[in-house]
Amino acid sequence: MRGCIRIVVRALGALAVCAFILAGLVVYFGWYDVSATRPHTPPIHRLLDIALARSVAVRADQIQVPPLDAETRIQNGFELFRAHCVQCHGAPGTAPAPYALGLNPAPASLVASARDRPAAEIYWIVREGIKMTGMPAWKYRLTDTQMWDVVAFMRVLPALSPVAYRQWDEKPARLSPRAASQDPTATGDSRIGDVTAGRQAVEQYLCATCHVIPDVVGASHHVGPPLAGIAQRPFIAGVLSNNPENMRLWLMAPTTIKPGTAMPDLGISGQDARDIAAFLTTLSESP
Ligand code: HEC
Ligand code: HEC
Repeated sequence: MRGCIRIVVRALGALAVCAFILAGLVVYFGWYDVSATRPHTPPIHRLLDIALARSVAVRADQIQVPPLDAETRIQNGFELFRAHCVQCHGAPGTAPAPYALGLNPAPASLVASARDRPAAEIYWIVREGIKMTGMPAWKYRLTDTQMWDVVAFMRVLPALSPVAYRQWDEKPARLSPRAASQDPTATGDSRIGDVTAGRQAVEQYLCATCHVIPDVVGASHHVGPPLAGIAQRPFIAGVLSNNPENMRLWLMAPTTIKPGTAMPDLGISGQDARDIAAFLTTLSESP
């Protein structure tokens, strides 16, 4: 019996090694086609669909849904949907923007999702986004109330005919463009900077596409200075003395502080900037 188990364990081990080598060969010789014009095969597509459904269901399970029926909430939700979602997902009688047609996986019409998914799941997807699909996480771009407004609108979406949607679309915007996204100048509940929250926020504001940041993955061609050791540098961008409050100001409006700088204003909210500043104080020269 024991000999039998040993043979099975060895066979499984050998299989795992073969699978590992095969995967390595596929990667090394470029056999895997990354182009967006080649969709996943039907079995892989199905598997990913199941993974998505389970992952979302498990994570959305404990979310408390606030009241979503108020008319103003639905109207705000529509305006946010028009500003941020219709470009990819389209709407009844309205096609997505041309670039969205080239996404793979293609963004689904949200009518069926809105009908079939519980509100908590839609809220979770909007807040966190979906990795490797092009569905963005909105939690650093919209406030919590705004994300629920979008969910409230999505609940009425399946009942809108193309004509009714067009009528909504013709109404002038009530929200200013600024109110349609998180107001970066709002300081919010202004708790003190939190290193862990800052570490997460850094991944959501493209920082690692321009800066090498220890332990944060990003693009490999960098246009900004490395941030390892930023905690010890006396100045920020050579113009502001380096302390958390000045760092918050720099992150929120680099182009005001140093006109002509190549670091863009990224629309960072006061709290996120405070958190990121706290995280940056942990980046000393020797990690
Ligand atoms: C840049 C394009 C893009 C934008 C903008 C976008 N999405 Fe998505 N979204 C996607 C893609 C791609 C997927 C994954 C494919 C799919 O399941 O539709 C997705 C998936 C979803 C899903 C899950 C669909 C399902 O049931 O599987 C929901 C819900 C959703 N998006 C809602 C929104 C909302 C609400 C907004 C606006 C706040 C938004 N999306 C903005 C591209 C986008
Ligand atoms: C599009 C590229 C780009 C993005 C995105 C970007 N930066 Fe920068 N950053 C720069 C450049 C370029 C500089 C140099 C600015 C200068 O000296 O004028 C810089 C400077 C800095 C500095 C000062 C560094 C020093 O040595 O004085 C800090 C700190 C910083 N960035 C943090 C961040 C953080 C945190 C984020 C994300 C919230 C971010 N940056 C996003 C390009 C970028």
